[in-house]
Amino acid sequence: MRKKYIAANWKMHTTLGEANVLASNIIKKSKPNTNQHIIFFPPFPYIQSIADLVSGNESYSVGAQDCASEPKGAFTGEVAAFMIRSVGGKWVIIGHSERRSHFNESNETLKKKVELTLDENLSVMFCCGETIEQREKSIQNQIVETQLEASIFHLNPAAFKNIVIAYEPVWAIGTGKTASPEQAQEMHHYIRQLIAIKYNDRLADEISILYGGSVTSTNASSLFSQPDIDGALVGSASLMTDEFISIIHVGL
Ligand code: 13P
Repeated sequence: MRKKYIAANWKMHTTLGEANVLASNIIKKSKPNTNQHIIFFPPFPYIQSIADLVSGNESYSVGAQDCASEPKGAFTGEVAAFMIRSVGGKWVIIGHSERRSHFNESNETLKKKVELTLDENLSVMFCCGETIEQREKSIQNQIVETQLEASIFHLNPAAFKNIVIAYEPVWAIGTGKTASPEQAQEMHHYIRQLIAIKYNDRLADEISILYGGSVTSTNASSLFSQPDIDGALVGSASLMTDEFISIIHVGL
């Protein structure tokens, strides 16, 4: 059975104190089942602190929202994958649409980040998704295929197992407009088929594919009931303790 994930992307929100309270309350009050895994993605400076909170608890882990595309060196302000590992991070989000659009991250840059992250034995939460203009032109499948092809489909099967894919249609992020369960299922199924073609059926069946974009406790259950949706990467709703716990408890 595929692992189910509920991931909290806190983006550029919270103070250290608020982040600690949020994570502690979620850990205290939520009851993930044995097949569920919860990941917190706090801002960089809080990773160590959240890592201490989840330490020893197998249902939770922590990761970074980004990493540098260079291994180390004179890159003022950047945070390398090995640094994330050294403060207890286990994951890195790569390819979030906010990084692609606000920071001009290309598929080629993302490929480098993916490799550096995997080299540190960290897992990758790889984001893909189309804009509204691309969906209106019905080229969303092509767009997502190109994103996967250019940044992760070069990996060998053993490395690819350390990837979780998050399909996040850009038009659904922070807009309150969720993809319908059918739209999301269609894309998730398409992605799984691409993995089967590129690798094999077994690997395609093992890879978890999450949906992201205005997920709330209200729409989570219809999304999670789709056969190819293995959880969610949650933005705004992950900053609200009870709301995020409800999403976990919707019961994947
Ligand atoms: P929202 O849940 O706020 O739409 O954000 C989704 C997201 O970008 C998660 O990475």
